[in-house]
Amino acid sequence: MRKVQWYALPVAALLLLLAMFPLVAGAEPPQDAANGQKVWDTKLCKNCHGPQGEGKYGLPLAGTQKTAADFITQVRTPRQNMPAFDASRISDQEITDIHDYMATLTAPASFTPVRYTPAADDPPGKVLFNQKRCVACHGDFSQTAAGIVKSGRTTLTQADVEKQLHTPRQFMPRFSDTQVTAADAAAITAYLAPIVAQAAGAPAQPAPTQLPTTGGVLPMLFMSLAALAGFVSVAAGLLLRRLRR
Ligand code: HEC
Ligand code: HEC
Repeated sequence: MRKVQWYALPVAALLLLLAMFPLVAGAEPPQDAANGQKVWDTKLCKNCHGPQGEGKYGLPLAGTQKTAADFITQVRTPRQNMPAFDASRISDQEITDIHDYMATLTAPASFTPVRYTPAADDPPGKVLFNQKRCVACHGDFSQTAAGIVKSGRTTLTQADVEKQLHTPRQFMPRFSDTQVTAADAAAITAYLAPIVAQAAGAPAQPAPTQLPTTGGVLPMLFMSLAALAGFVSVAAGLLLRRLRR
């Protein structure tokens, strides 16, 4: 019988794991309605359009009669109040997948958009923050301030706000200066700045929950399995060597 080297088993196991790795770690999800559901859950569309596309601050998208091309046009060049997402925030393919997913859902029987009713003593910036739908992603005031402070800020100027609106740092979509004018930005700053300063001095608060997250249970599971497989094969190799002596 041919002699099997003691290290053959662990080496084979390692090669197998390496070959499997791209399948688990780097695999592109299929591009279809099922993928559209995953994309929907990670992008910020649902903050305005409702968790199931049933409509909230913005129109319902569930059961849409529009085409994928219409969706892409709206996301890149919104007709009115919606902020614009560029290709670094969501690709044409992802918008198409979202469209295909929304088309599989049933349109709501009726829809009433969330509208803010200003209180008599509301500062103008608070009213604008709600009317311009900043609230859809930033939640209430404490969440907003906590989120902004978490990004390293202790102060907030009008220039900071306008910069974020027109050239957002990461996931936030872009508001044009007709959607939120310089005067609007000034009022919003007057409302936000004191709260940011206060939150910066206060103990950390929970960050907004709607921000996209990465990672997940699958890569973690895979890593643990890989570690276990490695351990078992080394042990088996050592045992084999011992038996052969
Ligand atoms: C800040 C809130 C907000 C966010 C975030 C948002 N939308 Fe909208 N959306 C709106 C509003 C408001 C409208 C109504 C038209 C307008 O004002 O442009 C709209 C309209 C639309 C329409 C046209 C619907 C119709 O029947 O005419 C589509 C399609 C759409 N949004 C897709 C998306 C997608 C996809 C995303 C995520 C990439 C998204 N929206 C994110 C607020 C939002
Ligand atoms: C679709 C979700 C969404 C909407 C709508 C939204 N934001 Fe944001 N905003 C974010 C996210 C996410 C961040 C974190 C930074 C980033 O990803 O760009 C952020 C960060 C900020 C910051 C902190 C920027 C910094 O440099 O510290 C300010 C200020 C801000 N938003 C203002 C606004 C205002 C004003 C509006 C309404 C006109 C608004 N946002 C609407 C998602 C949103």
